[in-house]
This record gives sequence, C-alpha cells and structure tokens, in this order.
Amino acid sequence: MTRDDLRIEKLRSILLSSFPQLTPESLHVVKSPYRVCPLGAHVDHQLGLVTGMTVDRNVLLVYAVHPKPEVRLLSVNFPGQVSFSLDDIPAKQELDWGNYARGAAYALKKKYTLSNGIIGVIEGNLPVGGLSSSAAVGIAYLLALEQANNIKPDPIANIEWDRQIENEYIGLNNGILDQSTILLSETNKLLCLDCQDSRYELVPPAPSLPSFNILVVYSGISKFLGKTGYNSRVAECHLAALELYRLARNQDPPDQLRLRHISVEEFRRFSGQLNVVSKKRSSHFFGELQRVQQGMEAWRQGDLDSFGRLMTASGASSIENYECGSPHLITIYELLRSLSGVYGTRFSGAGFRGCCIAFIDPEHAPAICRRIEKEYPRRHPDIADVFEIHVCNMDHGARIL
Ligand code: GLA
Repeated sequence: MTRDDLRIEKLRSILLSSFPQLTPESLHVVKSPYRVCPLGAHVDHQLGLVTGMTVDRNVLLVYAVHPKPEVRLLSVNFPGQVSFSLDDIPAKQELDWGNYARGAAYALKKKYTLSNGIIGVIEGNLPVGGLSSSAAVGIAYLLALEQANNIKPDPIANIEWDRQIENEYIGLNNGILDQSTILLSETNKLLCLDCQDSRYELVPPAPSLPSFNILVVYSGISKFLGKTGYNSRVAECHLAALELYRLARNQDPPDQLRLRHISVEEFRRFSGQLNVVSKKRSSHFFGELQRVQQGMEAWRQGDLDSFGRLMTASGASSIENYECGSPHLITIYELLRSLSGVYGTRFSGAGFRGCCIAFIDPEHAPAICRRIEKEYPRRHPDIADVFEIHVCNMDHGARIL
C-alpha cells in the first residue's frame, strides 16, 4: 500500500465512524497535490510568465454526495466541524478553515444550482505555507461539489472558479499560478503558463535532463497571506506599471494596467526615472520574464545546471527586488545555495512564510537533509520543534480517483 492509500483508508474510517448513515460504497476521493513554482515568482498578478509543477504530497478529500443542499466537513489538520447550507452561503470568517469550502460553493453558485452537498473529511500532508495548500483545498472542494451536482469538471473553468474563491471570497489579490499548476500539471512535465492570455504548454524535458528530487524545507512558520505584505506588494507593482506607462506614453493608462503591458524596451528606457520601490518591483518582474524564457530553454535542452542557477537567481531577486522573505526563509535559502548537490533553490510561494524548495541531486539528498537538520535549528532555535524536510518528486494534477 502506498502512503496515500493508507491515508485514504484512515480518512474513510474517520468519515464512516463520524457519519454512521454513510456506506463505504458511497465514498469518493479527490487528490489535489501541492505545487511549486521554480521560476516566475510574484509575477502572475502582473500577468507575467510562470512555471509550475506539482509534487507527490497532497490534500485528500474523502466525501459522500449529500442529497440535500448542505455541506458538512471534518478536517484532520484543524479542529471542529464545518456545516453550512448551499442555499445561504455564509460570509468569510476570519481564520476559519471552512472558508475555502464556502468559497468554492460561492464561486460555483454564480453559474450553477447546487442541489446536492457533500459530507467529507479533508487532510493535507504538508504544512501550510508556500505550497499552495489553499488552492489545493479550494480545488478539492470544487471537484467534489461539481461531481455531486453532475457538473462536468473543466480545468480552465476551475482556474477561474478558484480565482474567484481567492480574490473575491477570501480577499487575496493573487494571480492564477497556484490553481493553474494544480489543475493542469502532468507528471515529469514543466508547466509554462502565460498569465496574460492563459496559454500554456506542458514541456517535457530533454531525455538527458538528470533525475532530481524536489526538496521542500518548511521553515516552521505558517501565517495567512492576507496579513503579510502580499497585497501591498501587488499594489506596488500596479503603481510601478502606472509610473512606467506615464513616462513611456503620453496617454491615459487603460483600466487594469499591469507590468506586462509595459514593453521590455520601455522598461529599459525609463526605469532609471522610477522611485526606488517601483524600480525594484519592476526590475523583479522583467528579470523573471527573462529567467522564465531562459529556464524553459534550459529544461528543453536537459540543462538542469542552468535551470537551477536561474532558480537561485530568482530567489535572490525575490529578496533584493521584491523584498520578501522572512529571516527564517532567507537562512534556509542561503544554506541550500551553499550545499553541493543543490541545482537551484528559492522560496516557494509568496515568500513571507512557509517553505524553501530546491532541485537536488538524489544522491546528495541524505547529506543535504543532514546539513539542514543540523544548521537551521541552530540558527533559529524558535522553530527547532516544528520545521520539516521533505524529499519529493513530481506528480500529476488534481483528480477524482
Ligand atoms: C502565492 C500566490 C500566487 C503567486 C505566488 C508567488 O502563492 O497565491 O498567486 O503570486 O504567491 O509567485
């Protein structure tokens, strides 16, 4: 039995003992993996180019269709039961794990009548922060509610429903990197997504690409993104776009102006006239644009060394130009970049909490883990009991099993 099979067995028995009216035959399972973004960080909200892949750690939702418009949920990771009516979806509640289920219902109800609910139990097997657990759970609920109501699952539509959960229901002004990666990924391929027109490509590596593991080092710090600098960084990027537009073109900016609407040439000509913050944010954006293009080429050529160097450069730009990264994350990043066997490393996700990732040579994995286990808690004793290290591989996108 695989690790996931054992988890599914456990979730089935929790659900059956908590809701004795359910039968074993009535249970379904959604597997919704976590994602990493090796290149193209903090640019999706500016309609940039991003890359992504899912890892073999995930959120599992075991559920039964409820023939009434009601949702009832348990979580292995969080206390209490979430219950609500699909006829009257409650507003977001601060720091409540039920928000993503309510948000999924909120988004789907804009288009569909939801006559059936779900009774389920959910569990994630990595800590919250940087790996997009929120999109993973949001998508798990979307897929389950769709199946319960005979709505054909469509990955492109689900990218939009999940955007509405995050932007409208939760209030985080993020882009579409997370849910696109979770919904579109295929094992061993690199997802390259243009957030301006949503075109994407799943790029297989050259056969010569060396095998690698995706190392996930959880810093020990989880905190909701709405309370970090995420939304303010997004606003600073909008402002940088506006300043560049005004400098470059003698006309009113369009609504919804983003850095992607500025050409590379315009950025080069006018960035010297920007204020410090706008210059840094736009330098990050245009640097990532180039790194994603170079990274895709390196991946196609099987050149993992170059791909990894670009990841590490992307991490440096996140610190210097995007100015994110907590002291804990910066320590892990600097440690990882100094170790042999590490192709490349950077923060995962927004970079205010959560994890660092690295692409590593599998033969060096034990030595790399030992070094992190020794050094990281020595430098940050406050997280000594809570940090985690996971050696992962690529996986497929979210699906009902
Ligand atoms: C978070 C957001 C994403 C993206 C990343 C940074 O994960 O949810 O939309 O902006 O940060 O690349």
